[in-house]
Amino acid sequence: MVIAGNWKMNNTREESKKLIKELIPLAKDVNCKVVICVPYTSLETAIELTKGTNIEVGAQNCHFKDSGAYTGEISAKMLKELGVKYVILGHSERRQYFNETDLTVNRRVHAALREGLIPIICVGESLKEREDGIMNEVISIQVSSAYTGIRAEQAKDTVIAYEPVWAIGTGKTATDEQAEEVCALIRRVMKDHYGDVANDIPIQYGGSMNAANAAGLLAKPNIDGGLIGGASLKAKDFAVILNAAG
Ligand code: PGA
Repeated sequence: MVIAGNWKMNNTREESKKLIKELIPLAKDVNCKVVICVPYTSLETAIELTKGTNIEVGAQNCHFKDSGAYTGEISAKMLKELGVKYVILGHSERRQYFNETDLTVNRRVHAALREGLIPIICVGESLKEREDGIMNEVISIQVSSAYTGIRAEQAKDTVIAYEPVWAIGTGKTATDEQAEEVCALIRRVMKDHYGDVANDIPIQYGGSMNAANAAGLLAKPNIDGGLIGGASLKAKDFAVILNAAG
């Protein structure tokens, strides 16, 4: 199980320090992998504070080039140098507000893997796509595109997050069965590409996962973790989810 907090654009460095200090003792005995994906400005602080703990640190995006004239961007190489382990890629907010496409997600996946970062690759359908009956196609295309040109031995060091767009930050969680259905589909798509390696790739659910609904979702056979937004900003709520993961 991999439980990752996606802090999004929340917490100054001082606020990050406070939250991480609260989280460390609450997380120390859990049996899942614990990741916090913090804003760029809090990365160094998070890495320092979590040294020697079971909490690993992730970023929320990276550019696909190592360096160059890309004002405002951060490369995978820069993240690696800081000691970052994970990077969220293709989050629906990036697709929606920053013109992220399946092509650019794929390029970022290549860049992250080149630097030895573990990408958390986000896929998910909108409400309209679900209602129009094209959810399976949308998900299959997003997954296959993200992994274009990625070999099996690289794919095993990745995480996929299924995040239905309609469930993110809305308080509308997918039911356990809806989440399992799509995570099982993602597993089948990955099996088509990579055979049994697909069994070792954690598939997370994300979208209004919280202290109350985490246990049910995480009990499903194809759900191997969670990507948690809002509930990761409160140490106690996040800790309940970590404990639900075993
Ligand atoms: P949420 O966000 O838990 O606040 O819905 C999840 C995410 O966007 O990763």
